Amino acid sequence: MAVSLNDLVVTQDGTLTLRHPAYDEEFHSIKGARFEADSLYMEASGFRSHVLASDQTLGVLDVGLGLGYNALMTLECWMQGSGSHDLQLVSLEHTPELVAALADPQCNWKEGWSEDWKLWSQSLQQDPETGNWKARVQHPCSGRFFHWLVLVGDARLADLSALTFHYIWQDAFSPKKNPELWSVEWFEKLRAVSHPTVQLVTYSVARMVRDNLEGASWSQERMKTPQAQSGEGTGKKQWLRAWLRTT
Ligand SMILES: C[S@@+](CC[C@H](N)C(=O)[O-])C[C@H]1O[C@@H](n2cnc3c(N)ncnc32)[C@H](O)[C@@H]1O
Repeated sequence: MAVSLNDLVVTQDGTLTLRHPAYDEEFHSIKGARFEADSLYMEASGFRSHVLASDQTLGVLDVGLGLGYNALMTLECWMQGSGSHDLQLVSLEHTPELVAALADPQCNWKEGWSEDWKLWSQSLQQDPETGNWKARVQHPCSGRFFHWLVLVGDARLADLSALTFHYIWQDAFSPKKNPELWSVEWFEKLRAVSHPTVQLVTYSVARMVRDNLEGASWSQERMKTPQAQSGEGTGKKQWLRAWLRTT
């Protein structure tokens, strides 16, 4: 789907996002692109504390690579830990221009990014045969690797069968605009590649999302956002956490 790489929007934490003309939505909450990656996907999922002292190789699925914020926050968290195990991150993205832009040093939404984020995103290399992208980043203390694979194409067709995920960042556009990535079939596909302890987190608490998770045998709970916890009057009040239903 055609995307303009110039419709930049400054979010409230100062990080840049884009507005997608066809979906008619921003890629991130106006509260902050980095803020959302950090507070929802890393923090509220439990990933940050888990990865600091992980005793196993973790698999993370990044649904909708977009501008790369969730992917790069995942790598940043892993780097802050001891790196005692490898981590495998798989990002799904159907717009090739976004991945190419992310790998490009001239990419305009990287303004204000740390040198690490720039370096890591620019280490993505395209496989000319498949069109997919890969990066491998080494932990400075342990020598272990963060393996990052970006599968380009419709996420519904991605072959994930050889993989197992402990964390899923469910970050498509809104259920109204991007319904194929919030359907029962989609959540069944995710279930099939999930580790028994998987944590799926997402910003949407829409009825359709909760019903479709339920329909695909996921349990779920709503979580208060930092704004709701602080009693701040503006912004989103709830996010969603889901895990596999066992009974
Ligand atoms: C809200 S944005 C994701 C933002 C991103 N997580 C980040 O951290 O910057 C949603 C992304 O999902 C992608 N997308 C939407 N439908 C898709 C599909 N069927 N298959 C693969 N990617 C899709 C869009 O192109 C867009 O980049």
